[in-house]
Amino acid sequence: MTSFVNLVLVLCFSSIGVSAEKKSVFFIFGDSTVDPGNNNYIETIPENQANHKPYGQNGFFKDPTGRFSDGRIIVDFLAEYGKLPIIPPYLDPSADYSYGVNFASAGAGILSTTNEGQAIDLKTQLKYFEEVEKWLREKLGSSEAEEVISNAVYFISMGSNDYLGGYLGNPKMQELHLPEEYVGMVIGNLTSALQELYGKGARKFGFLSLSPLGCLPILRAMSPKGCFEEANSLALAHNNALKNVLTNLGYLFKDFKYCYSNFYNWLQQRIIYPSNYGFKEGVNACCGSGPYGGVYTCGGTKKVTTYELCDNANEHVWWDSFHPTERIHEQFAKALRMGPRTLRERILFEISSSTRRR
Ligand SMILES: *[C@@H]1O[C@H](CO)[C@@H](O)[C@H](O)[C@H]1NC(C)=O
Repeated sequence: MTSFVNLVLVLCFSSIGVSAEKKSVFFIFGDSTVDPGNNNYIETIPENQANHKPYGQNGFFKDPTGRFSDGRIIVDFLAEYGKLPIIPPYLDPSADYSYGVNFASAGAGILSTTNEGQAIDLKTQLKYFEEVEKWLREKLGSSEAEEVISNAVYFISMGSNDYLGGYLGNPKMQELHLPEEYVGMVIGNLTSALQELYGKGARKFGFLSLSPLGCLPILRAMSPKGCFEEANSLALAHNNALKNVLTNLGYLFKDFKYCYSNFYNWLQQRIIYPSNYGFKEGVNACCGSGPYGGVYTCGGTKKVTTYELCDNANEHVWWDSFHPTERIHEQFAKALRMGPRTLRERILFEISSSTRRR
């Protein structure tokens, strides 16, 4: 069992980077969990931009970058562990795509109807990937470009906005679709995206599962008691459906390799027992206002300009009302790199992979 799990991790995350036999580049799709600043270049609402203080206050990057964190985010650590440079935002005009590129956009959904017009949805992120594909072909020639594409790691962290703004915050959508139907639509569209990428030659995928959405400070603030259960149920249903889809794609598609990480349980442990993991505060956001710091402002809306800021973000699980601190990003990236070392961790991770046997 141990060797299987380690093999999978080597496959999924250690294969990013120059240390691997062949160079793997890193392509990232997603929402604010992994947006490195694409939204700095689009027209959107202030809530979807983090290119201002106190974001980035720990100074790893000299100025705020657009990351929804006090510093780095998980993909920065994964790139570092893979001996790659920081992977740039696609929309940055000075971006060099040689080691990969990041298409993620805060507020974005898998469904195009989610926060429509305020973020770069998954379909558009795939269109942008086609541009990078063209660029690779022109630069390297077709056969070398194909090799880069099939050796690359495709990391996807998306879906939270489909369930929060797209469903729970959208009465009309709730009238139209039962929760299970809606999960089916989200997963259906994600599956189409995976098939499209596979069709283009992508073979190695990494997934960050949804977190316990109902325990985000913003939703805790809306719930009379504890976490907002409907949001947690949707996240769990999505994660289960995603795992099933991945198992099936593993059977159906030759050489489809993936690693699915259970961020839900991992984060839940830190929310409930922060001190077991070196944190002091698992519930209240470092930056925000109102109950739990859950009112969505950390200097990000024009309506509310005041907010409170904690003394030490490293003691907090949550940075703002939606997003975890750099320390959480780093701990999870490390966990992915090291792999689950104990049986308990192994159960929490549920990392799995499948390659069609021939
Ligand atoms: C994708 O989402 C749309 C709604 O945005 C839905 O009508 C469609 O059926 C979904 N596609 C799949 C394959 O589930």
